Amino acid sequence: MTHKTQLLTKITSRSAKIGVIGLGYVGLPLALTFAEKGFKVTGFDIDEKKIPMLNNGESYIKHIPSSRIKSAVDSTNFEATSDFSRLTSTDVIIICVPTPLDEHREPDLSYVENSAYEVSKYLKKGQLVVLESSTYPGTTDEVLLPILEQGIKAVIGLDPDDEDRLTPARHLIGGSSVSRFTVGDDFFLAFSPEREDPNNSDYTTSTIPKVVGGVTPNCLEVACALYDQVIVKTVPVSSARAAEATKLLENIFRSINIALVNELKMVFDRMDIDIWEVINAAKTKPFGFMEFQPGPGLGGHCIPIDPFYLTWKAREYDINTKFIELAGEINTYQPYYVVEKTRDLLNKNGKSLSQSSILILGISYKKNIDDMRESPSLKLIELFQAKGANVDYHDPYIPKLPPTRKYNFEMSSVPLTSGSLASYDLVLLSTDHDSLDYQLIADNAKLIVDTRNVFERKGIKSDKVNKA
Ligand SMILES: NC(=O)c1ccc[n+]([C@@H]2O[C@H](COP(=O)([O-])OP(=O)(O)OC[C@H]3O[C@@H](n4cnc5c(N)ncnc54)[C@H](O)[C@@H]3O)[C@@H](O)[C@H]2O)c1
Repeated sequence: MTHKTQLLTKITSRSAKIGVIGLGYVGLPLALTFAEKGFKVTGFDIDEKKIPMLNNGESYIKHIPSSRIKSAVDSTNFEATSDFSRLTSTDVIIICVPTPLDEHREPDLSYVENSAYEVSKYLKKGQLVVLESSTYPGTTDEVLLPILEQGIKAVIGLDPDDEDRLTPARHLIGGSSVSRFTVGDDFFLAFSPEREDPNNSDYTTSTIPKVVGGVTPNCLEVACALYDQVIVKTVPVSSARAAEATKLLENIFRSINIALVNELKMVFDRMDIDIWEVINAAKTKPFGFMEFQPGPGLGGHCIPIDPFYLTWKAREYDINTKFIELAGEINTYQPYYVVEKTRDLLNKNGKSLSQSSILILGISYKKNIDDMRESPSLKLIELFQAKGANVDYHDPYIPKLPPTRKYNFEMSSVPLTSGSLASYDLVLLSTDHDSLDYQLIADNAKLIVDTRNVFERKGIKSDKVNKA
């Protein structure tokens, strides 16, 4: 029996053992989804704090209930570990680690590379490796494959207990580079972008169709068979590069359209036209128009970052990604625009920004979640503080502001009461969490800046509300 047939049999009988590397917003729900469908799943993470929590059935992500993790642990289908040697007992390894930008706004693939090195140490015949992290076209073929191949090319270091188990060349002195494993025959490699939308009640990991691209046709077949077990629909494409590009198209599409409505918001505001009224009217067209909402800026681990992975790669082909850069510029400007609007409003009311106290509502980058990565609210705090304003925040999902790579504010969420609201010169709505009491805010705040048009959407009429 070939390795492919053996692996396909294990996958379709759900006896294949799954390893998920990176138990974050993407990897944790994915691992739980496989466990819930009857697979034995081992989750791998380098963050030692997460391992005991998860093994005790405790969630560290607000919208993933502890009960879900506990059931998976109790069923013995899910276990977390930081011991990467346990990758040897897996049949499938799915990599879901971060892909941020570095300080020069260039792709930081160190997490993917480190995971690949770990996998290469323990890779054995008959395994499938899938990368799910968002990245530029070519990462799987040009970065992952060579690392895996280099690892499995060493013949010295062969574990005598397991003839398929090899130690990678870089761990050996004088290691030979004779290739033993061939991708597509001995092991399988694919890219399948993650489309998780945290806390979207309409779509979960298993109900979002999954695009899959293999390094070879056999890789594609095995990877599709895997996702067919747990995902409503797999969408095969011709290569890993096409799958990588698909994810970037989706996120660039969003970034550019958000930039467009953000630009129109500023233009229409100057003309005394309300962008939200215009969008509501435009979306009555039953074809050819798709609604996007303006806001205080882009946030999250994906939309502000992924497009620049393509910008970087396109340079290799002598192409400037003008649309992407322009959208980035407009979206980056939004927090500055909100600060200008706030300053003008305070001035109109006889106050200067430097003498004012401001309460920002909502820190997470979108509503009803606790993820504050790249959130424009953090930029707003920085800008207001730089102008001398006294800034506090309220966010039911983020009781305390943890330090990020860029900021260390040491602030805690202030309670939202009639008294606290009335004590600020201005309240700025940055993230429109459903649980906020908008009537209480409208009744008690002195002045309100609404960057999401939430008060109008909720039917709350108040002269204090100003859109920005
Ligand atoms: N968050 C989303 O909504 C979303 C949606 C689609 C795609 N993505 C993409 O998925 C990828 C993962 O994003 P995320 O939001 O889950 O990130 P995350 O930061 O929430 O989780 C990543 C996890 O990987 C762990 N990790 C880092 N290096 C590791 C290593 N070498 N070995 C093992 N674990 C390691 C971290 O400790 C963390 O727990 C990124 O490429 C992101 O762009 C994210």
